[in-house]
Amino acid sequence: MTVDKGFLWGGATAAYQCEGAWDADGKVSSNWDWWLHERGLPNADVASDHYHHVLEDIALAKEGGHTAYRFSLSWPRIIKDREGTVNEAGIAFYNKIIDACAEAGIEPFVTVFHWDLPVYWEELGGWTNTQTALAFEHYARVCYEAFGDRVRSWVTINEPKWFTSRGYLVGDYPPFHQNAQEYIQAGFNIMLASALGVKVFREGGFEGSIGIVHSYTPVYGIDDTIESQIAVRYADNFNNNWVLDTAVFGEFPIDLVTELSRTYDLSCMKPEYLRIIKANTVDFLGLNYYSSTDVKAWTEGETTLRFNTSGKGGERGKIMVKGWFEQVYNPHHKFTDWGMEIYPEGLYHGLKKAFDKYHVPLYISENGIGCYEDITDEPVHDDYRISFLQDHIAAMLDAMDDGVDMRGYFVWSLFDLYSWISGMEKRYGLIGVTDDEEHRRVPKDSFAWFKRVIETGGDCIDRSQYKDDPVASPESA
Ligand code: BG6
Repeated sequence: MTVDKGFLWGGATAAYQCEGAWDADGKVSSNWDWWLHERGLPNADVASDHYHHVLEDIALAKEGGHTAYRFSLSWPRIIKDREGTVNEAGIAFYNKIIDACAEAGIEPFVTVFHWDLPVYWEELGGWTNTQTALAFEHYARVCYEAFGDRVRSWVTINEPKWFTSRGYLVGDYPPFHQNAQEYIQAGFNIMLASALGVKVFREGGFEGSIGIVHSYTPVYGIDDTIESQIAVRYADNFNNNWVLDTAVFGEFPIDLVTELSRTYDLSCMKPEYLRIIKANTVDFLGLNYYSSTDVKAWTEGETTLRFNTSGKGGERGKIMVKGWFEQVYNPHHKFTDWGMEIYPEGLYHGLKKAFDKYHVPLYISENGIGCYEDITDEPVHDDYRISFLQDHIAAMLDAMDDGVDMRGYFVWSLFDLYSWISGMEKRYGLIGVTDDEEHRRVPKDSFAWFKRVIETGGDCIDRSQYKDDPVASPESA
């Protein structure tokens, strides 16, 4: 199939990861600024300096044939304090991006929140405090009112699961806590915030559509025994359903809530908030796909939540929830230097599964591979990235052939940017950014390759390659 003209092709970024200018023009500190400064960890104070290179970046996206640009707005750049005072300089910056997109014929695909929380909310407990969710309503309204005349595609929240689990459960993202009770509260509050974001969008009668973006981890069982099927359900609730079911159906999976109620305090789930969630569901889903996961029934040992943050290829992360499920690795699969499984088949199956279940339009809102690369004035020959993207786009096109309603595909990332706690050395960009003070943009080979994909509407993609592994369901490792 050739995708139709309205299909969005582009690159994605997020404010904290690329803008830099962390304290410029009235921006207040975010939770990331605060925590990383406090702990002396690699930060994104400058990052890709998108704040000062934004016109060049959009010109490059145009040169690459992109029809859309996914970026996020920074809450601490737009709202100055708990009273909700608007920072006009922040609004002006995003007007500049949106106007440049319009001039370039590029559709802005805008995420309202991509993890950078104003420090004045972090100080009060961040996402564990329902006040943060309630404050999101005002922030979202300010964004729609300022930019809604030109933006038609809105995302409330990027990846509710990822930053709350890493921040409150795994403990390697701000605020570096390991507390399941806090994780549950933060998870509930972020879904409430998303629903409030949908509510003000509908109440304001803004044009366009609104969705949520999820870090999608399709789950495979090691076999079809009932034990494995139960483990798959646990893992699917843990990884996906609490975000996707809640955003689309307006309800948290009741078996998950039942299970949690045995151990945790769920009093944050007040009836009036549950009604808001039920009444304000999304128009579409953005799925960020990096890898899937294989699980078996839990056998023994304490809950373990470990990621490879070292970038040393040999290390694998491990996710095991006591009594629920245990992650296993398929020995036949390939892995990135950060231990992420490379499995495009998972995207094909995952898209089909998500569409069959939710029946809403889907976007791949992020897909890409992080690698070590030296950026000089010579283009990087990133054939490994081309191969990764080619196989995943093939999987998407196959899913479309099988009836999945796909509306767009975004490469993570448009240009090199800060990779959360991995800093600037884990590079995802189609365009390289030099490490010096000039932050020169140097398109990689994948940039020209992706241009050709867009020009041909996906026709140049080789569909035979990605299916070379015939194992649809993994073997036990
Ligand atoms: C997604 C996020 O989880 O994955 C991005 O939306 C992030 O912000 C991307 O950068 C890749 O993850 P990482 O940790 O390798 O940068």
